[in-house]
Amino acid sequence: MLILNKTVRVFSKPSKRKIYEFLGSFTFHPGKPFLHKLVLGIETSCDDTAAAVVDETGNVLGEAIHSQTEVHLKTGGIIPPVAQRLHRENIQQIVQEALCASRVSPSELSAIATTIKPGLALSLGVGLSYSLQLVDQLKKPFIPIHHMEAHALTIRLTNNVEFPFLVLLISGGHCLLALVQGVSDFLLLGKSLDIAPGDMFDKVARRLCLRKHPECSTMSGGKAIEHLAKQGNKLHFDLKPPMQHARNCDFSFSGLQNVADKIIKQKEKEEGTETGQILSSAADIAAAVQHTTACHIARRTHRAVLFCQQRGLLPQTNAVLVASGGVASNLYIRKALEIVTSVTQCTLLCPPPRLCTDNGVMIAWNGIERLRAGLGVLHNTEGIRYEPKCPLGVDISKEVGEAAIKVPRLKMKI
Ligand code: KG4
Ligand code: ZN
Repeated sequence: MLILNKTVRVFSKPSKRKIYEFLGSFTFHPGKPFLHKLVLGIETSCDDTAAAVVDETGNVLGEAIHSQTEVHLKTGGIIPPVAQRLHRENIQQIVQEALCASRVSPSELSAIATTIKPGLALSLGVGLSYSLQLVDQLKKPFIPIHHMEAHALTIRLTNNVEFPFLVLLISGGHCLLALVQGVSDFLLLGKSLDIAPGDMFDKVARRLCLRKHPECSTMSGGKAIEHLAKQGNKLHFDLKPPMQHARNCDFSFSGLQNVADKIIKQKEKEEGTETGQILSSAADIAAAVQHTTACHIARRTHRAVLFCQQRGLLPQTNAVLVASGGVASNLYIRKALEIVTSVTQCTLLCPPPRLCTDNGVMIAWNGIERLRAGLGVLHNTEGIRYEPKCPLGVDISKEVGEAAIKVPRLKMKI
C-alpha cells in the first residue's frame, strides 16, 4: 500500500527543487503490486487544472480538478495571464491529490501523459513544463496528448466502442465533426467557421442578463438557456438555421448570436427595459435560439453520417455517433441528435457529464490507449513544444462539401 505522508503547499511556480520535495513526500509501503499499466494524465489547455491516474482497464484510480470558471466569469472571459497564474498555483496540488487518491506512488507509473495541443499557449506551457520536470526526475516515458483526440476517445473508457465511429464535439471552445478510425487516425469532416455553440450560448445568456435571473444565477450560459427555454415558445421568433445552402458539415454560430442580439435590442426598446434588466420575452428568445442551434447541429451531423455511410467509412448498421463537450449535456440538442440517429440506424452515445467537459481522466486514458497501441510514447523529450493551434487529423471537409449531399428534411418535434 502506498501512503502520502506530507501535505504539499500550493506553490506559485513549481521549481525543480519543489518537485523533488514533492516526490520525496511519497513513502512506498510494499504491498500488492499493480498488475496493469498506470498513466498519470495532466490537463491545462484552457481554464481547468486537472489530473488523474487511470489503469489499463479504464479504472479511474484517482482524479482531481481545479476549475477557474468563477474567476473568469467575473471578468467576462478568460484572461490568459490570469489562467496561467492559476494553473501555476494549482498544478502541484492537483497532481498530488490525484496521485494520493489513487494510492499509486510516482515510481509505479508507466508513463505521464499531458495535453500539449491545441489550447491557450500560456496555459499549455504550465502543464508541459511541469510534466517535463516530473518525467525527467522520475525517468518515465512521456506521452504528448492532443486535447481533441482525448475528448473523442473518452467514450472507449466508459463504453465498448470499436473503431470507426463518428464524433461530434460541441462545447464553449470546440465545434467539430470527425470520424475516429483509430487511436491516432482521425478524419475531420467539418468544424465551426467562427465561434463554438457554447460560446454563442454564453454570449446570448450574458446579453439576456441571465445571471440576474433567480433560477439561473449559478448556471453556465448554456445551461441557463436550456433551463429558461423550457418556459418559452420557440416559435415566437422566426430564426433561420445558418448555412442552409452550404451542403457541407461546417458550422456557424456568430450569425445566430448577432440575430439574437438584434432581437434583444428591439425588445428592450419595445418593453422599455434598460440594458441589464431581464426581458419578459427572455424565455422565448432562449427557446428559439436553442431550437435553431439544435436544428443546425442535427442537420450537419446528419450529413456527416450520410457521407460516411455512402463512402463505406461507417458500418451500414449499428454505427455509433458520440456527442461530447459541455453543450452535448443539453437534453434538447441530444433529442435532436437522437432523431438523426434513429433515421440513420445509428446509436447515439454520450460520456457522462463529468467526462464530457475538460478533465484529467480523458488525458490519462488517451495515454493508456497510446501506450497499448505503441503510438507516440517518448523516451526522449528533447525539442518537445506545445502547439496552441493544431487541427484534428486529416481535414477532408472540402471533399465532404464537394459530395454536396442533400439531407432529407426531418421533423424536429422535440
Ligand atoms: O466542455 P466545457 O465544460 O468547456 C469547454 O468549453 O471546453 O463546455 C462549457 C460550455 C459553456 O459554453 C457552457 O455554456 C456550455 O458548455 N454548456 C451548455 C450546457 N451546459 C454547459 N450548453 C448548452 N446546454 C447546456 N446544458
Ligand atoms: Zn475541451
